[in-house]
Amino acid sequence: MARNFAGIDFGTTRLRAAEVDANRQSPTILSHGSVPVPEGLISHGTVTDIDATVELLRELWSTSDIGTKNVRVGMGSTTVLIRDLVVPKSSRQRMKEALPFHVADKLPFPVDEAILDFLPVAQVEADASTVNGLLVAARAVDVHANVEAVSRAGLHVESVDVVPFATARLVAHNNVGEGGLALVDIGATATTMTVLIGGVPRFVRIVPTGGQAITERLAADLGVDLQRAELLKVRIGMTHQPASTPEKVAVDSVIHAAHELIESVRSTLQFFMNANRGITVASIRLLGGGSQLLGLKEALTAATDLPATFARPFGKLTFGPRVDEAHARAHTAEYAVALGLALRGNE
Ligand SMILES: Nc1ncnc2c1ncn2[C@@H]1O[C@H](COP(=O)(O)OP(=O)(O)OP(=O)(O)O)[C@@H](O)[C@H]1O
Ligand SMILES: [Mg+2]
Repeated sequence: MARNFAGIDFGTTRLRAAEVDANRQSPTILSHGSVPVPEGLISHGTVTDIDATVELLRELWSTSDIGTKNVRVGMGSTTVLIRDLVVPKSSRQRMKEALPFHVADKLPFPVDEAILDFLPVAQVEADASTVNGLLVAARAVDVHANVEAVSRAGLHVESVDVVPFATARLVAHNNVGEGGLALVDIGATATTMTVLIGGVPRFVRIVPTGGQAITERLAADLGVDLQRAELLKVRIGMTHQPASTPEKVAVDSVIHAAHELIESVRSTLQFFMNANRGITVASIRLLGGGSQLLGLKEALTAATDLPATFARPFGKLTFGPRVDEAHARAHTAEYAVALGLALRGNE
């Protein structure tokens, strides 16, 4: 039986999909593709305009050579909540059934509007009476919107997974070290931070900020439209040496907004380390278009005192005959979410 799956990443700026053949010894990338997302269709990882997204999905399937209709859908919305939880030890099914009672007072939305899951994380003694893990809670209405768009586009939803676990799965292939690794995906409207210990996610935060906030700030400070601000931001980044007063205003604006983003990452990682004294985070791996801002990697390293490098998530994957390997490698980080989703069940 064919076991090819495509993962779908609902990005704010692009809809991306990647198809993986999981039959082989080493998972093989068969195809990938993306289409730009017009503003307002997808926000913070959630489909907000289902009809238009159905059309986009059809366009993506007809313009790429993705062959499968079996898809794994990602949820990366900022309303997805992933928190530490300790529950009495019992079967996985029982623990899951008991979740609403454990978490009713911990959610920012009513528990009967939530889809809940529990992921045990820490090794427990055989005679321990409790299990440490991560609670995953998503708003059902958000999950249903993404699933409905996919189903109406004629695709079969095989599974729904939270985006940080999907990327962690892919990066862990490559980076299972002793120390903790913080995976930071800076998108347009969401920044997702995942701390992996020995390749296992131990902490996740999704905050509603990203590269778009820098563009918006620049547009407001210069009084220009968002398209111009976007081009200028990409050109000057945080490191450009200004040759005129207007250029200095622009560079200062980008630096200021980028530092707000960096501070949000720094304080989140600091929070995790303060709460988990025995665990050290040794380095940062960056994903997402927002991390491409010139000078951001270095500024993040300086602010956190942790070496930040770009993630190379294609480590052990091989490339099928239809994939242009050089092109795929050049776009590695862009497809990390879609690939990580497609790989589910294959780790
Ligand atoms: N070279 C670059 N320099 C600076 N910023 C960049 C660069 N390339 C992309 N970006 C920024 O990256 C952001 C888009 O990143 P990405 O494609 O990862 O987002 P997304 O997945 O569509 O959105 P999200 O994950 O927030 O839903 C935009 O804000 C864009 O301005
Ligand atoms: Mg993204």
